[in-house]
Formats: sequence, C-alpha cells, structure tokens
Amino acid sequence: MQDFLKRLPKAELHLHIEGSLEPELMFALAERNGVELPYASVEAARAAYAFEDLQSFLDLYYQGMAVLRTADDFFDLAMDYFQRAHAEGVVHVEISFDPQAHLARGIELSVQMEGLGRARRQAERELGISTALIMSFLRDCPADEAMRVFEQAAPYWETIDAVGLDSAERGHPPSKFTEVFARAKELGIPRVAHAGEEGPAAYVREALDLLDVCRVDHGVRCLEEPALVERLRDERIPLTVCPLSNVRLKVVKHIDDHPLPRLLEAGLVLTLNSDDPAYFGGGVLANYLACEQAFAWGKETFASLARNAIEVAFMDSRRRQALL
Ligand code: ADE
Ligand code: ZN
Repeated sequence: MQDFLKRLPKAELHLHIEGSLEPELMFALAERNGVELPYASVEAARAAYAFEDLQSFLDLYYQGMAVLRTADDFFDLAMDYFQRAHAEGVVHVEISFDPQAHLARGIELSVQMEGLGRARRQAERELGISTALIMSFLRDCPADEAMRVFEQAAPYWETIDAVGLDSAERGHPPSKFTEVFARAKELGIPRVAHAGEEGPAAYVREALDLLDVCRVDHGVRCLEEPALVERLRDERIPLTVCPLSNVRLKVVKHIDDHPLPRLLEAGLVLTLNSDDPAYFGGGVLANYLACEQAFAWGKETFASLARNAIEVAFMDSRRRQALL
C-alpha cells in the first residue's frame, strides 16, 4: 500500500509555501542573511513545534519566515519544497503565499514574485511538476490592506491563479473581505478561502455566499450544519482537507477522531493536503499514509481522492487530460 500511495499521481492544493520551510533551510538562510533565530539548533526548532491551537502555530510560522529576504531565498524555499514533493509522487502543486507578511517586513512584492516564479518555472522544466499560485490575504489584518496589496499586485494578476484567505480565523469572518473578493471576481480571478478550520460552519456558508469561492480550505466544521453539508455535496464544492494539520493544531484530538470518514460518507468532494508540511509532520504522502493507518481505506478510495484533486485543480485542460 505504501508503494501504491507513493506512486499514485497526487496533486497538492493546500500548501502554504512559508509553511514548507524546514528548520535546516531556516538555519541556512538565517546564516546567509545574518538573521538571529530563537532556536539553538535544528532539533530545538523541531522540538518547539508543539502547538495548542492555530494561533500558537501562527506565532512561530510568522517568526520563521523572517529569514526570507531576497528573491533567491524565496526561490530556495520553493525549490526545496518542489523537490520533496516530487520525490513523494506529487505531480501538481498549488502554492499559497502570504504577501502581506513579507511586505510588513519590508520585502517587496517583486522580490517575492521573482523568487517564487523562478522556482515554479524550474520545477515545471526539470521535475515535470505543474504549479499554480494562490495569493492569500491575512484575515487578521484590515480588509483595506488586503485591497491595497491586491491592487499593488496588478502587474502579476496574469500569473496569479486564485486569491485565498488565511491566518487566524476566529473573529475574522469571510464577510470582512467581501469587497476585495468581489474585485478579484470582477477580474475573473478564482477565489478560495480557509473556513471551518477553527471557525464555525457559518464561516463556510459566508465564504460561499459572500466570497463566491470555488473551493473551501479545511471546511471540516461544516459537519456542524447538516444543511450546509448537503449544499457542499449538491454544489460539488471541494474541501482541501489537511488531516495532520488538524491533529497538530488540535482541531481534532487524534487522527482516529478525524471527520474525514464522515465527510466521505456524506458524499463530499474531498482532497488530501499538507497545509504546512515543515511544521505538521510531513508532506502530502505522509497525510495519505496517516489516513491509511487510521481508516484502513482501500486503494480505490485513495485513487478517487487523488483524482478529485486533479479534477478540481487550477490547471489547463491538456495537463488535466494527461493526468487523469
Ligand atoms: N497559514 C498557514 N497555515 C494556516 C492554517 N492552517 N490556517 C490558517 N492560516 C494558515
Ligand atoms: Zn492552510
């Protein structure tokens, strides 16, 4: 089964590129840029990754990305991830990034885009991975800041496959971002949003009604509203589920308690993803393997989850045909 899951052509649709920063690269970039880290060693960094909730993770996630300063840093970050993903049998990756988190540290959007763009082109050329880019807005920052960043990104709109919404969910409902998502829609840019990770099912509904998202990131708390589950099923709205993330951020107590089997039973379109692989114990393959251990699903279930991801990915139709 392990071999089958490794060889299965997988697409990763929910991946924060800043959350793929392994401690080894964090230390190398800290050295290169003269940035001081709050950890004595790679092992000490890993040992600090014990989270109580989403916010306690976000605190270290934003701290860790302080080592990213130049376009080469963003290139190395993404290339390091693409190489690991390739080795796990990942054939398509959609990387989210948080431009505001870097702008706040004085790192220009052009620097971020140059590094990520260069890595995407190299991964496509040398590893045969197709990629997409999702520009995410920080929901715990003001909505007008998101709008300013989005307008500032005008020279890059062509290379952005979707906009997203992430960071601290509680108290920051999708409704706060209605305007900037409407602007993206006006420009024909697809929309996704984290909802129903720590926040309530009502946030999933808002993401659909007010942001007109085509996919929901996480969404696991939809189960608290049966009518919403029916709607997600009937409208075939995919959820990008991240089981190891949900365990590490205590959204669920244990992988055995994860709602994935119930979501599957409800007939939803599901995909398996890693979210922040450097912080949560592994990439997309580790997430597939964890589900195999916990739920003993057969090959057909995993093949259909992998197929879902390819069917709902932002990729051109020829690539999709080639992968299906
Ligand atoms: N940013 C990075 N990882 C995230 C997560 N799991 N939820 C919300 N925002 C994030
Ligand atoms: Zn996420």
